Amino acid sequence: MNTVITGASDGIGAASALELARKGHRLVLVGRTASKLSAVADQVAAITGDRPDTLTVDFTSFEDVRRVAADLLDRCERIDVLVNNAGVMSTKRQGTADGHELMIQVNHLSPFLLTNLLLDRIKESSGRVVTTCSRAAKTGRLDPADLSRERRKWSGWLQYGDSKQANALFTVSLAERGIAATCVHPGVIRTGFAPGTFFMKLVLHMPGMGEPVEAGAARLTHLAAHPDGVDHPGRYFAGNVPAAVPRQMSDPDLAAALWSASLAATGHHES
Ligand SMILES: NC(=O)c1ccc[n+]([C@@H]2O[C@H](COP(=O)([O-])OP(=O)(O)OC[C@H]3O[C@@H](n4cnc5c(N)ncnc54)[C@H](OP(=O)(O)O)[C@@H]3O)[C@@H](O)[C@H]2O)c1
Repeated sequence: MNTVITGASDGIGAASALELARKGHRLVLVGRTASKLSAVADQVAAITGDRPDTLTVDFTSFEDVRRVAADLLDRCERIDVLVNNAGVMSTKRQGTADGHELMIQVNHLSPFLLTNLLLDRIKESSGRVVTTCSRAAKTGRLDPADLSRERRKWSGWLQYGDSKQANALFTVSLAERGIAATCVHPGVIRTGFAPGTFFMKLVLHMPGMGEPVEAGAARLTHLAAHPDGVDHPGRYFAGNVPAAVPRQMSDPDLAAALWSASLAATGHHES
């Protein structure tokens, strides 16, 4: 299995890379910070004896996403699994050079673009796409005409919820196009995610509030390696089973509107 995993430099993504290496996947590690990615590659090499390829990318730049997608297409004759895991939560409103709010670009628009650029290769490989979503998606109130919340109230958690709702709707749209796509709530996991927030302080310091990275990695890699990742296209998983979701995470019309808005936002043209 040739598996590409984003956000592989830290947290759930790094732990998932190690778990997938143990399961025998041939990995390409994609991450933002070269030094952290290199350390994870060393850990993978210690398991498999082979050092995986590493590719750096900054999801705040569509140009960088296009560059890394071209590099992946050069390197990978097959892509059996694409794990869209990179993500960010920020309490501060930030914009990207492409003119979007940070979280909608890093958590949805860039993975949307990367997946679309790799989609033919994934289809040729009868591959699957697994996205790290969140139960925060249930709080999402995404408006395809206002992805960056320029015309509505903005808060970090509201915008994060919208971006994770987008992960679920993107999964629905990929499934409609015949792709074995699923997404997953990894659990509440002790990582460097959402630094400084009251919620993550509780997760990191209150006994019983959070789980170790290996627990999140087990849920993510389940969908990358188990038939469940193929047998339930379009579904959101929690605790290794497809879970019921509110309408705004599964509505095919909203998913289609998001797809069109994402094409416009990324400037991608479908072949
Ligand atoms: N932790 C939780 O409780 C929890 C719960 C639900 C969902 N999630 C989701 O799980 C996923 C992984 O998060 P985590 O908890 O493992 O957090 P993390 O330890 O902060 O890891 C996030 C990963 O995303 C990468 N990343 C961040 N911004 C990026 C950018 N601009 N371009 C490219 N890569 C970027 C990071 O790269 P660097 O190493 O360079 O920072 C890192 O590899 C995210 O999608 C998050 O939304 C987490």
